[in-house]
Amino acid sequence: MESNCRLAGRTALVTGAAKRLGRAIATAFARRGADVVVHYGRSREEAEETVDAIKALGRRAWAVSCDLAAPENAAGLIAEVWTVAGGLDLLVNNASVFPEGDFAATTLDDIQTILDLNAFSPLELSRAFARRLEAADGAGDIVNLLDCRMVEYDHRHVAYHVSKRVLFDLTRMMALEFAPRIKVNGIAPGLILPPEGKDETYLAELAHTNPLQRYGSPDDIAAAAVFLAEAPFITGQVIYVDGGRHVKGRMYG
Ligand SMILES: NC(=O)c1ccc[n+]([C@@H]2O[C@H](COP(=O)([O-])OP(=O)(O)OC[C@H]3O[C@@H](n4cnc5c(N)ncnc54)[C@H](OP(=O)(O)O)[C@@H]3O)[C@@H](O)[C@H]2O)c1
Repeated sequence: MESNCRLAGRTALVTGAAKRLGRAIATAFARRGADVVVHYGRSREEAEETVDAIKALGRRAWAVSCDLAAPENAAGLIAEVWTVAGGLDLLVNNASVFPEGDFAATTLDDIQTILDLNAFSPLELSRAFARRLEAADGAGDIVNLLDCRMVEYDHRHVAYHVSKRVLFDLTRMMALEFAPRIKVNGIAPGLILPPEGKDETYLAELAHTNPLQRYGSPDDIAAAAVFLAEAPFITGQVIYVDGGRHVKGRMYG
């Protein structure tokens, strides 16, 4: 039942892997010898490009779409992955949205919508994955993408902030609930890529807010994901890949 803790020969599902951080994680796993199911929502063309990049590395890859705005779709996605890839060893909950909205403007519906995608779909994917592994007496890994902002109060992205706090708690809860069969860890990125619609000046303007005074790259996040997937004795852990921003505080200044 113990996981072999090497990526070589394992199969990973990375949600939201058509582009950006998800693509970086998916291709880094493939470089370490994993086969990868590339989940996407709407970005079919980019998902196919990720699949092609993984195949060019000599690994198997499949693009699978699923709307994760509805957590009840999660079990179907895991079932489809089992069908196309013949099993699954590693789940990366990466798909997410990052809407702006302060406390006064954020409605209960906004919070529910973002919770469903950013926290409850990861929960339901993880539970479906765990049930399958239990039935097969297998072992595996889950890596959840969090955010270094969760240690402070991100008053500009209130619903998002709630969702990542919930996923942080779920990460620790699942680490206990799924042990010893599944290791569950998190990565809390800081400034890595500008949100959709913004360019690099967004990163440059905020770079001074972390102690290392720069922004990171998708490869930094992928390296943390590889490390966690291959670490045999780490569970319930969160790695902050944020230039130290979580210890400094003062998010926007
Ligand atoms: N970028 C950063 O600097 C940063 C900083 C802190 C934390 N993070 C966290 O790291 C992770 C990756 O960040 P990112 O910036 O690369 O993410 P992103 O580009 O904002 O989103 C990743 C993917 O999520 C998918 N997605 C959104 N809504 C969906 C839905 N309803 N159903 C299915 N898929 C859906 C999208 O897939 P499609 O395009 O296929 O629809 C999108 O490509 C996220 O969890 C984010 O919160 C990122």
